[in-house]
Amino acid sequence: MEIGTWNGEHALQMIRQAKKFHGRSVEYYGFDLFELLDDKVCSKELSKKPTKLKDVARKLQKTNCKIKLFRGGTKETLPKSVGKLPKMDFIFIDGGHSIGTIENDWEYTQQFMAKHTIVIFDDYWNRENAGCKKVIEKIDRSKFSVEILPIQDKFKGTSGILKINFVKVRKSKNKL
Ligand SMILES: C[S@@+](CC[C@H](N)C(=O)[O-])C[C@H]1O[C@@H](n2cnc3c(N)ncnc32)[C@H](O)[C@@H]1O
Repeated sequence: MEIGTWNGEHALQMIRQAKKFHGRSVEYYGFDLFELLDDKVCSKELSKKPTKLKDVARKLQKTNCKIKLFRGGTKETLPKSVGKLPKMDFIFIDGGHSIGTIENDWEYTQQFMAKHTIVIFDDYWNRENAGCKKVIEKIDRSKFSVEILPIQDKFKGTSGILKINFVKVRKSKNKL
């Protein structure tokens, strides 16, 4: 499951990689605003403009795997999907970057987690006004293991160097 499918290129890479181990039984669930993302939301979410849903669907259907795409803000689409989708093996949280959206995305992500599920957050930044840092800091360490991964991207932005890491989250072993 990917929150923030964008143009589907990384989805394609993830599906191809998963197919090496699981063949055509791989299922992909992608959430994005797609063509509903307007300039106002784009700037509030510090987002990139996505491709239209139908173009992403066409690209991903070539994998011959089960592909389901959900168009809309995740404050609406994730709650509606609870109980209707299976527990996920892997969840990539990389949608809107506002703290409210990431809080929502993490809250509902927990509903799709089984004991083995790996969740990767993108955009753990060295700033707290957006990105997942504040949400990560609030995760209950007695229930989840939280690991800031070492690979780091660096960009020179308007307010200095932006350093970006991934964060890996799983249910704690004593909560399995
Ligand atoms: C950084 S891009 C995702 C990149 C993609 N995961 C990849 O690795 O190539 C962020 C995506 O989140 C979507 N997005 C932003 N805010 C959203 C929201 N509130 N609900 C759903 N999708 C949102 C945008 O449309 C955009 O496609």
